[in-house]
Amino acid sequence: KTNQQWGGRFSEPTDAFVARFTASVNFDQRLYEQDIRGSIAHATMLAQVGVLTDEEKDQIIQGLNEVREEIERGEFEWSEALEDVHMNIEARLTQKIGITGKKLHTGRSRNDQVATDIRLYLRDEIDAISTELTRLRTGLLDLAEREASTIMPGFTHLQTAQPVTFGHHMLAWQEMISRDHDRLLDCRKRVNLSPLGSAALAGTTYPIDRECTAELLGFSAPTRNSLDSVSDRDFAIEFCAFASLLLTHLSRASEELILWTSAQFNFIDLPDRFCTGSSIMPQKKNPDVPELVRGKTGRINGHLIALLTLMKSQPLAYNKDNQEDKEPLFDAVDTVKDCLRAFADMIPALETNKTAMYEAAKRGFSTATDLADYLVRKGVAFRDAHEIVGKSVAFGLEQQRDLSEMTLEELQQFSTVIESDVFDVLTLEGSVAARSHIGGTAPEQVKIAVATARQTLNP
Ligand code: ARG
Repeated sequence: KTNQQWGGRFSEPTDAFVARFTASVNFDQRLYEQDIRGSIAHATMLAQVGVLTDEEKDQIIQGLNEVREEIERGEFEWSEALEDVHMNIEARLTQKIGITGKKLHTGRSRNDQVATDIRLYLRDEIDAISTELTRLRTGLLDLAEREASTIMPGFTHLQTAQPVTFGHHMLAWQEMISRDHDRLLDCRKRVNLSPLGSAALAGTTYPIDRECTAELLGFSAPTRNSLDSVSDRDFAIEFCAFASLLLTHLSRASEELILWTSAQFNFIDLPDRFCTGSSIMPQKKNPDVPELVRGKTGRINGHLIALLTLMKSQPLAYNKDNQEDKEPLFDAVDTVKDCLRAFADMIPALETNKTAMYEAAKRGFSTATDLADYLVRKGVAFRDAHEIVGKSVAFGLEQQRDLSEMTLEELQQFSTVIESDVFDVLTLEGSVAARSHIGGTAPEQVKIAVATARQTLNP
């Protein structure tokens, strides 16, 4: 017996291995809800234009609703012989309602059907991800506000550079993630178009109404070219590109969290519920959650490359290659959701160790630039000021003392323009407060930046 859906022109059944090799049902059954939604819209439209009677349409919708319930109750029997989610559902519908079930596929192909399903799926997931992004960004803004005046060392080359505020550092993360959020919402515009009606590749001879199905499914419009609509998966690639950048940012943040929880930094504490222990070393508390997020970046980058490579040589229009789009996309969605959840839960629970951060900022001569700027204000050329401060730092290293811990006389060995007001700029507080302009690290600016960011978050 040849295949029941398309076996008419075949003279022998599909090879058992080939059937397994070409089947996608074990992973694309995840699209069942979108597939049924799309079919209901298609049937509704077919009745509106007179291709189906209202009675037939009602029977189809009733049958599809029952199939959905069977699937959700776990009673549906998925069959690999029926290849994919689309043919499994259609076959069951026909089993239930008879000949009318076979009319559902009028004016449609699995090619526009699957393109529609993926777009519906991705749009739903984008909305869920957007909500998580907002939750994470809110957490970062709350933390930034709470820690607007907390002083820590700022780094370049991972060497102490200048003091910054912890709130300012959290705002930097928030900026990165807000750009990812923008990218996601921009990608949504291109996802939210309806390929339904493109049929196999060239459109269909039935008097279909593509505006109608687009509207029924909440798409902003029908896609404009049938060949393109059934074949390109650039919208999924775009989503993975968003995911790669997001994970790149989360990975950088994870790296910092991991460093900061180490005894050597001791800047923050992650509550026990986000950490795990060691089976051999009793003293250990490991930051597994950020480590895993950092690690997951690799698989996301892999999915992006997989989809790009999948697409790159495909001639128009649909090719079976595209069946390979689903597993990377599904995994990218799941991974992004898990990583965002981990971060959104973790950020509000971070505890800062203000003393350790402050002491670390003091240790690394982090106000050296402030001393140079002070000398410039007293009329010294910047390059000369740089040299003077360099010598002061060398002296400090030898004496194991910070610039702020030297006496006025000691400082005056290096430049006679130095007066007692120098100590105002050598303190960490003076240093951060002085950087008070848009985007600067001063506590005052951090508070303004938080307020501004909150407005863009909830416009
Ligand atoms: N399972 C297929 C996919 O994921 C559905 C479309 C198949 N179309 C076809 N003509 N073989 O792409």
